[in-house]
Amino acid sequence: MATNHGIINELSRSYAMELETIQNYLANSIDLDGVRAEEIKKALLRDIEEELGHARKLGNRIKVLEDRVPGSLDLHRTQRYLLPPNDSTDVIAVIRGVIRAEDEAIDQYKKIIKMCDPIDLVTQDLILEITAQEQAHRRQFIGFLYEYERGEAKRLTAAAA
Ligand SMILES: [Fe+2]
Ligand SMILES: [Fe+2]
Repeated sequence: MATNHGIINELSRSYAMELETIQNYLANSIDLDGVRAEEIKKALLRDIEEELGHARKLGNRIKVLEDRVPGSLDLHRTQRYLLPPNDSTDVIAVIRGVIRAEDEAIDQYKKIIKMCDPIDLVTQDLILEITAQEQAHRRQFIGFLYEYERGEAKRLTAAAA
């Protein structure tokens, strides 16, 4: 199989992003306080399972494409906006952070989808499936945002259409 290093690099980047997302979803799912946080914490725990599945699929694909899977010290970190907020009851900061993380994941996957066409349709198929799940995560948190900032949530819904 002809190995495309550009695609493998972007798959590795997505792999790092998924793992960083898991770390911050986990931290927020434990750290948030208050009655209003309970549903958010449950949703984060559910999404962690799916993000771990994404990381596993990406790692397997990198391996099949004849490269090595990076360990922790080779993983880039950027998600300052999703660290547990100073105020542990600031549910809306976490909701906004999740929407941004999902947006960034979707943008990165769209980039890979374009790169794969037409040279690696198997990777493209895998990424399309993952992207659909990220869109569902995003939409769920936009639903949570409706409760707090209806105007902002409506704008974000329109932006995705
Ligand atoms: Fe994911
Ligand atoms: Fe996600």
